Amino acid sequence: MPEQIPPARIDPHDPAANPYRLPRTVRPRRYDLTLEPDLEAATFAGHETVALDVLTETSEVVLNAVEIEIDEATAEIQAEGAPGGEPLVAKVALDEETERATLAFERPLPVGRATLRLQFRGVLNDRLRGFYRSTFVDDRGVERVLAVTQMEATDARRAFPCWDEPDAKAVFGVTLVVPDDLLAISNAAELERTPVGELSGGRTKVAVRFADTMPMSTYLVAFVVGPLVATDPVDVDGKPLRVVCPIGKEHLAGYALEVGAFALRFLSDWFDIVYPGDKLDLVAIPDFAFGAMENLGCVTFRERYVLVDPETSTQAELQAVVDVIGHEIAHMWFGDLVTMKWWNGIWLNEAFATFMEMTCTDAFRPDWQRWADFGLSRSAAFDTDALESTRPIEYPVVSPADADGMFDVLTYEKGASVVRMLEQHLGPDRFRAGIRRYMARHQYGNTETSDLWDALEAETGEPVRRIAESWIFHGGFPEVGVEAGSDEGSPLRLSQRRFRYATGDRAGEAGTDGDGPWSVPLAVESCNDATATLDRALLDGEPLEIERPAGTSWVNANAGAHGFYRVRYDGSLLGALLDHLGELTPVERYSLVDDAWALVLAGVSPASSFVASAERFVDESDRSVWERIVGGLGQLDRLVDDDAAQRLHTRVATLVGPARARLGPDADPESDDDRTRSLRGLLLQTAALLGDDVAARDRSAELLEAYLADPRGVDPSLAAAALVVCATFGDEALHERLVERFRASDNPQDRERLLLALSRFRKPSCFRRTLDLALSGAVRTQDAPYLLREALGNRDNGADAFEFIAEHWSEITERFPANSISRLLSGIRAVRDRALAERAEAFVAEHPVPQGALLVRQHVERMWVTVALAERESARFGAYLSG
Ligand code: BES
Ligand code: ZN
Repeated sequence: MPEQIPPARIDPHDPAANPYRLPRTVRPRRYDLTLEPDLEAATFAGHETVALDVLTETSEVVLNAVEIEIDEATAEIQAEGAPGGEPLVAKVALDEETERATLAFERPLPVGRATLRLQFRGVLNDRLRGFYRSTFVDDRGVERVLAVTQMEATDARRAFPCWDEPDAKAVFGVTLVVPDDLLAISNAAELERTPVGELSGGRTKVAVRFADTMPMSTYLVAFVVGPLVATDPVDVDGKPLRVVCPIGKEHLAGYALEVGAFALRFLSDWFDIVYPGDKLDLVAIPDFAFGAMENLGCVTFRERYVLVDPETSTQAELQAVVDVIGHEIAHMWFGDLVTMKWWNGIWLNEAFATFMEMTCTDAFRPDWQRWADFGLSRSAAFDTDALESTRPIEYPVVSPADADGMFDVLTYEKGASVVRMLEQHLGPDRFRAGIRRYMARHQYGNTETSDLWDALEAETGEPVRRIAESWIFHGGFPEVGVEAGSDEGSPLRLSQRRFRYATGDRAGEAGTDGDGPWSVPLAVESCNDATATLDRALLDGEPLEIERPAGTSWVNANAGAHGFYRVRYDGSLLGALLDHLGELTPVERYSLVDDAWALVLAGVSPASSFVASAERFVDESDRSVWERIVGGLGQLDRLVDDDAAQRLHTRVATLVGPARARLGPDADPESDDDRTRSLRGLLLQTAALLGDDVAARDRSAELLEAYLADPRGVDPSLAAAALVVCATFGDEALHERLVERFRASDNPQDRERLLLALSRFRKPSCFRRTLDLALSGAVRTQDAPYLLREALGNRDNGADAFEFIAEHWSEITERFPANSISRLLSGIRAVRDRALAERAEAFVAEHPVPQGALLVRQHVERMWVTVALAERESARFGAYLSG
């Protein structure tokens, strides 16, 4: 079934072979760009002057443009000795498929300088890409309109004709013509405003001119116009930082301002380069396709990642804000100042920003132990990378749709995991020195992956290229087998092979390029009563032997859990580790559980052995470890019949009981840290949902009432957990109350929680209301795909969600942002019923998703892993529980 998508056969970088790439005959050096959006009419008009270097004489200039009309195009030649005089006029031809405009001049432009002038028009679309329209309802109940941009990956060409390729860096001088009562911002600081006319109602039209940007890629250009407010600027080492948001929401901006100031200082220091913009705005946008976007100086966000009330938010919600702000600000260097040459190298942007996001959050709130939670990201990467249909981190990109498909868990989470592994292998200080060298050398420029190895090798003298390339250019990852010889002093023997999930009778052919060997930076810790010994070694194709100190009582073959590999222990080694859990760090314990669960999905261990291992964690106190344990148990709960489930619930109750008793029922402001508080919420939810604990359900009902009465009166983690529990068992009356509350709330975290809780209802009639709500006007198109994704994962009603999606497919694909369709479909990964799986597979085969073809194949393959698990385990695991 899942074969690897054949890598592009043409050379993606060759304009002669790849019709999506622009000819290299001319290069833009600077754009002077004027845009005038009409918010009421949802249109815009623009004109631009582009200073060009003509590198090869040509009478045809080809640039990108799509869904815009070019009304006029002329060129003036500045080349020395060339005749001056009248500008040359071009005939314009647009090619929709390749998203290009060809300007045909009556005479060739000679080598040298030329100036192009274009007039154009377009529509402010509602698909959240290019130059688009977003709306919100203000305090007085009036609908207000914004015009805003989202250019990455290849949508700048929808806002203005341009050389829309990341290595065509240019300076942008932007002017926005707007009613003077609206805020207008762009990448650089405002220079001047000039009145240019009168509007109805006594309003004045002004031209707002912004300073020149640094040379940068088109995908980073931003314009935002609307009824917005900006906070007073905070000075961060001479650069003004503000939060910008829809009017009426400024009371939620303080936290982001604090985080932004921290991140900007921390990251300037980390990179050892002054922030390259002249100001920084963090802008909350009501309708936003992604999480956030790193436009230089004008970072845009979904509201929930900037507007937050720290008093009523859970740690997870606050951490998401800190993460996303750190991530985007890290891009000001990694991405904006130094940019990949082409989209195949997008991991250079995204993996690093993800890595830096952890580093920055960890510095902001060390007590959050951000790297312990990173285990969850690493698991997400493993979960796709264990499939035959995985891909290498760096992967050929030919078309815009290919570029869209690159923003996935392999680019972000696997990429960041590999970076983390390298950092730990080289040592954090040497690693940072190497990155500083790379940044300093390539600032304002474009790079390829090999430039990074060069800098790291020059700095450290280590064989970075050899190690890193085995991870970046090959899909999949290894399982490291650890064997201890039978006698006391015999060395450990370590070997590798590719780790794979089991897909039962749907097993695919072996991957084409993913079988390794990988160059695995091993960290092996051996412990006896007196000391712990850490061995670092590179495991290549050949097995490796490592001596064990005398009296070794346990061995951890992924010390620190930084390695992007799974460990499979032979014989008594695993038992020995489980006997010494207290000596491992939280993320090491996390990865022990995670590996145990993965071996169940691989068909190597039975589900019963996962439960038996999990039951060794009664003394566990870490939130992420519990999350992983509960995640596995929750999956197993779906596989067995009611009787067996009862028995499983009893065991879960026994497992979590002691931990709940240690924590006590209520948050304790004296002794609780944030992780403890969120653990208390998680365990309440687990006891109620997986432990059949009636008292926990009653408690949840009380907490929910208290929260609905006054969100400030309840610990946020308990409130969030209670909401999930009550929704799961809720009736129509509760559904209606939650929907009401969702509509009325203007707090982004609150709204998100309420909305996703609606996907939890077990009562079919309530669940059906949730599905209908997703397509009603009450849910923004930025949110509905994620609601439907969660609905697909509903334990009892996933099949209904699937039928609903299939029935409304054309509406879904027409209205929702293009990038969200494959994300919505990721919900099918949870399908465990063979008949439904077959139906789902046939459906996606008939309804291809161009921007996410590979992603969808991965979801389908992962779905068959779930089906195979169910078919292997439901009887066997049921019998184990009864036995
Ligand atoms: N550059 C991306 C935004 C983006 C994603 C543009 C996909 C085009 C396609 C941005 O830096 C980003 O990574 N955003 C994430 C959130 C982030 C904190 C992980 C997103 O939007 O999911
Ligand atoms: Zn990013």
